[in-house]
Amino acid sequence: MQPTSANIPNHVAIIMDGNGRWAKQRGLPRIEGHRRGVETVRTIIDAARDLGIRYLTLYAFSAENWQRPPDEVSALMGLLEYFLRRETKVLVKNRVRLHVIGRSEELPAGPRKELQHAIAATRHFTDWNLVLALNYGSRTELADAARAYAAAVAAGREQLGETTWTSFSRYLYTAALPDPDLLIRTSGETRLSNFLLIQCAYAEMIFSPVLWPDFAKADLAAAVEEYQRRERRFGLTGEQLKSGVNPRAAATP
Ligand code: FPP
Repeated sequence: MQPTSANIPNHVAIIMDGNGRWAKQRGLPRIEGHRRGVETVRTIIDAARDLGIRYLTLYAFSAENWQRPPDEVSALMGLLEYFLRRETKVLVKNRVRLHVIGRSEELPAGPRKELQHAIAATRHFTDWNLVLALNYGSRTELADAARAYAAAVAAGREQLGETTWTSFSRYLYTAALPDPDLLIRTSGETRLSNFLLIQCAYAEMIFSPVLWPDFAKADLAAAVEEYQRRERRFGLTGEQLKSGVNPRAAATP
């Protein structure tokens, strides 16, 4: 079954989990799971666009992932560089804008250069957006935003007494992005693992048992269908929704 074209989530964020288990089940090294995971990334970027999802955010490398064995970290960085080098042309052809969230300035020079090139090459596009979370963690994001906000207050660009979510959230990595409507985590784990904690305040969450290398277009479509069956209330009652009150207007300003 296909989801209906009305009420497609504008922004889907995915925690791509299960590469290691996929490889282990086959007696392969973990990196083989990540390699297959990159192929899934390509499939799901296309699938999201086909479904009409305008923003797709992928948790590709967390701020905590540096603590993995050094050969796995360097293999992941190599795969990121390879993906960006190979995929930039495709993003340009499909008019997909690439964004990054996270402390990307701390990435090794190779993937960092490819990233800068891909971001520059796609910066004029508006309809479709791919967001890579790289060296990302919600807690470092909040610490970075607090520091930048405090500096803006000290410089007189913000008024401390007038702080609202709207004024503060402009200092998050996600300032230019809408909040996720749907968060998916693959592999059966039911945690958020420091991913977009504040931006997912009103996101619907779907935990799929499928390991990321096996996650297919049909699995994404099934998650969107499930999303379409949910009632998003943003703190209101079901009765208020039925009477036509706009629930998004109720979300914290
Ligand atoms: C989690 O699986 C996955 C990661 C930590 C990395 C995700 C990276 C990719 C899919 C490839 C690189 C991405 C791009 C955009 C080029 P895990 O290793 O924790 O799996 P496990 O829980 O089964 O061990």
